[in-house]
Parts: sequence; structure tokens; C-alpha cells
Amino acid sequence: MKIAPSILAGDLADLASVLDVCRDGGADLVHVDVMDGHFVPNLTFGIPVVEALARRTSIPLDVHLMVSNPDRLLDDYLAAGATWVSVQVEAAVHLDRLLDRIRQGGARAGAVLNPATPLASVEEVLGRLDYVLLMSVNPGFAGQAFLPYVLDKARRLRLRIDSLGLQVEIEMDGGIGPDNITEVAEAGVDICVAGSAIFGAADPVTRMQELRKVGDWSKRARSSR
Ligand code: DX5
Ligand code: ZN
Repeated sequence: MKIAPSILAGDLADLASVLDVCRDGGADLVHVDVMDGHFVPNLTFGIPVVEALARRTSIPLDVHLMVSNPDRLLDDYLAAGATWVSVQVEAAVHLDRLLDRIRQGGARAGAVLNPATPLASVEEVLGRLDYVLLMSVNPGFAGQAFLPYVLDKARRLRLRIDSLGLQVEIEMDGGIGPDNITEVAEAGVDICVAGSAIFGAADPVTRMQELRKVGDWSKRARSSR
């Protein structure tokens, strides 16, 4: 199980320390929530912030674009050092073209689905994706409650990817923590984003290690069934 701490839930006045915590906990990716105040009500990390993060860490930056106009912003985030980039399908008028641009920019290409967005919205491009990010909260804020119905969506997506023999990874984002990571892993998720569960813990490094351990164990149990 890959763990991607969401830095939005960390101390935003001390992002260098947040990155140190990610390193010490063995984070596989650093999840960066880019919000534009339009696609979602909140406003977060601009391009210079992503540049600064990329200078400071060698952990791949997993940039989740919650913006109304990914077409206009994409190249700047790629140039800033994003190595994984996902766009919300609800905001992508030309999803196929955006995914090509992400890969041409040297990054791994992801499509994000809000909880209510059906899997059919990525069916035609599954073969051109490196990962699908399933939102398990409505995007906009850290610290929201997990929506359990998304687990079934993950199970169906896992079956579809496996039946096509594709290598597409499934990432899940929102409200994940020690109480539900077992179910998330059993549903076939490969990458868990966690914000509050990590940065709200008394010891974020230990929490990250625990999440990975439980996630790995549950994934192994799933694949041995
Ligand atoms: C929600 C963001 C998430 C969020 C995760 O809009 O996309 O990445 O920061 O935070 P938690 O784990 O606290 O729900
Ligand atoms: Zn996110």
C-alpha cells in the first residue's frame, strides 16, 4: 500500500517540517491539493509553492488539480515539478488531450472522480491513464467524513482494470484513517491519501507507518483470497 500524506492538513506555516515528516514516515508520494476557489470553494497552493516543495523534497509530488480550467494551468504545474498530476474529470472538457499533455510533460497521468461521478467517465481512457483517483469526500477541505459508498466503486474499478490486464493504479482520497484503511485496501485501492489522520495525530510519523502496515496486511489478505 502506498501512502500519500496530504499536506493541506499539515502546518501550512511550516511546510519544510511537513516534508520532513513525510520523509521520516517513508511517504511514497506527497499529495498536494491545488484548489482554485472556483471548482471548489477553497483556495490553496499556487505554482510557486509547488516549485518550492519540489526544490525541498525528492519524494514525488502528487498534484491533485481541483481547478475549473486545468487546460490553462496544467503546463505550469508540470514545469513547477509535479511528477504525478491528476485532473478532475468534471472539469476536463478534453480529458484525452489533457492526459496526453501530462505524459508528454514527463509525469504520471491521473483522472479524479468526485463521489457521485460514475466510472463510465473514464472507461474510454483507462488504457491511457497511470492512475484513477476516487474521491471519498466531496473535494474542498481536509477533515471530512469518509463516504462508504465509494468502496463499491473501487471494487468495480479494480475488477475492470484487472479484467483488461491494465497496470492502472487506484488512489483514494478523503477521510481515510486507521478506522477504515482495512476496507479501503480490501476494495483494491493501491494508494491512500491521508491528511487529518496523519497530521492530526500526536505522532504523524508513527501514524503513517501504522497506516502502511495495516494497508499492506489487508492488501495481502485480499490477494490471497
Ligand atoms: C479534499 C482533498 C483531500 C484532503 C484529504 O478536497 O482532496 O486530499 O486534503 O484530507 P483528509 O484525509 O483529512 O480527508
Ligand atoms: Zn486531494
